[in-house]
Amino acid sequence: MNTLKVILIGAGNRGRIYTNHMKDMGFEVVAVADLIESRRDYIKNTHNVSDDMCFETWEELLSLPKFADIAVIATSDGLHYAPAMKAIEQGYDILLEKPVAPTPEECADIANFAKEKGVKMLVCHVLRYAPFFTAIKEYIDAGKLGKVISIHHSECVGNVHQSHSYVRGNWCNTERSSNMLLAKACHDIDIIQWLMGCKCTKVHSFGSLSYFKEENAPEGAPDYCIDGCPYADECYYNAIKIYLNNENDIGCRDYCTDKVNPTDEDIIEVLKTTQYGKCVFKCDNDVVDHQVVNLEFENGGVASFNMCAFNKGSRFIRVMGTDGEIYGDMRENTIEYFNFKTRTFETTMPTGKKLDDTIVGGHGGGDRGIVSALYDYIAEDRKDEWLSEIQISVQNHLATFAAEKSRLENKVIDVLEYEKEYLK
Ligand SMILES: NC(=O)c1ccc[n+]([C@@H]2O[C@H](COP(=O)([O-])OP(=O)(O)OC[C@H]3O[C@@H](n4cnc5c(N)ncnc54)[C@H](O)[C@@H]3O)[C@@H](O)[C@H]2O)c1
Repeated sequence: MNTLKVILIGAGNRGRIYTNHMKDMGFEVVAVADLIESRRDYIKNTHNVSDDMCFETWEELLSLPKFADIAVIATSDGLHYAPAMKAIEQGYDILLEKPVAPTPEECADIANFAKEKGVKMLVCHVLRYAPFFTAIKEYIDAGKLGKVISIHHSECVGNVHQSHSYVRGNWCNTERSSNMLLAKACHDIDIIQWLMGCKCTKVHSFGSLSYFKEENAPEGAPDYCIDGCPYADECYYNAIKIYLNNENDIGCRDYCTDKVNPTDEDIIEVLKTTQYGKCVFKCDNDVVDHQVVNLEFENGGVASFNMCAFNKGSRFIRVMGTDGEIYGDMRENTIEYFNFKTRTFETTMPTGKKLDDTIVGGHGGGDRGIVSALYDYIAEDRKDEWLSEIQISVQNHLATFAAEKSRLENKVIDVLEYEKEYLK
C-alpha cells in the first residue's frame, strides 16, 4: 500500500476529523497550517509532524514548492478559495471542505482551474460515502426501483443545532459565511442529484427567517442568558444548558470555544463574551430557519426538498420509482423498500445500529467513508460517478445558488442557462 503524504490547511473541527481517520488508512500527515497554536500542536503531536512543518498561515505553507501528495483544505467557508487556487497552482491533489466557496464565481473558478491543471479534487460531500445513502444508491443502480420519478427529501436541522450553528454560530450571517441553503444543504442538493443520476434543469424555492429574531424575544429577557434570564428553566435555547451543562448532548460544548478540550471556565467566558452566550432572539443572524426547493431534472424526474429548524433533527428521504419505492430514516438508520411486483417490504439497517445524534456526528460513517474513497481516488486511480469530484460538485453548487436566487427573486430559475454563465 502506497503511503500518501498530506498537508493540512485548517486544523479546526473538520480538519482534525479527517486527519484522525487518516492515521490508519494509508496516509501520513506531514505539515499543518492553523492560526491557533493549540490546534497546530494537536496535529503535531497526533501525527508526529516536525516543528518546522507547523505553520501559522496557509500562505507560509503553500509558499514552499510542492512536497506532499494531497492538500486537505478545511478552513472556514470564506477561506477556501485562496488556498484552493494556490494548491491547484502548486499541483496538489485536494480534499476540499464544502461549500466549495460562498459565491458561484469562486466555485466556478476553482472547478475551471482544477480542470485546466488536471489536479484531482474531491469535495467533502460526506453523505455520499455514508452507508445509509450508499445503500439507497445501490437499490437504485440495481434497478430495483425502475425509473426514478420523484424524490422527497427532508433535512431536519434540529432546533438546538439551528440555534448553535445558524443563529449564534459560524453560519448565522450571510455576509460573514453564506446563505444557509449553501452552508447546510449543498450536501442534500448534491445527494438528490446523485440519486436522480442526471442534471438538474430548473429550480424554485421559498423560505425565510421566521422565528429567531428580536420581535419574538420574551419580555424582560436579558441579552446574555447568563445574566439571569427569567425564562432560563423553560427556554430550549438557554446557553447555560446547551454549552455548560451539555444537556442536549449534541457535541456543542466542544464547539463554542477555540480550545481542543475546554474547561467550564473557558465555556463561562465564551457565554459572557460571545454570541454563543446570547439570547437566540437577539443575535445578528439573518439566514433562513425554513426553506423549500422544488427541482426538475433532465430525465423529467422531480424532487422536493425541505430544510427546517423546527424538529429533533436528521434526514428523511422517499425515492419513488416505476417498480418500487424507498423510505429512508437516517435517525433510525433504516431503509424500507417496497417492491411493486411482489407487494412486499424489505427493511435494512445499513450499519446495523442507530446513528449518533451529535453535531460532530461522523455523518453516519461518511467522514470515514470519504477518507477511504480519497485513498482509492488518488492512490488507485478510482474513477466513477459515486465520487464527489469538483466538477459535479460545482454543478450541484450552482443549482443551489440558483435555488437561492429563486427564493430571493421569487421566480423559477433555468439551471442550465444559469450554469452557462460560469462553467467552461
Ligand atoms: N462536510 C461537512 O459535513 C461539514 C460539516 C461542518 C463544517 N464543514 C465545513 O468545514 C469547514 C471548516 O469548518 P470547521 O467547523 O472545522 O471550522 P473551524 O473554525 O473549527 O476550523 C477552521 C480553522 O481554519 C483556521 N484558519 C483560519 N485562517 C487560517 C489561515 N489563514 N491559515 C491557516 N488556517 C487558518 C482556523 O484557525 C480554524 O482552526 C467550513 O467550511 C465548514 O462549512 C463541513
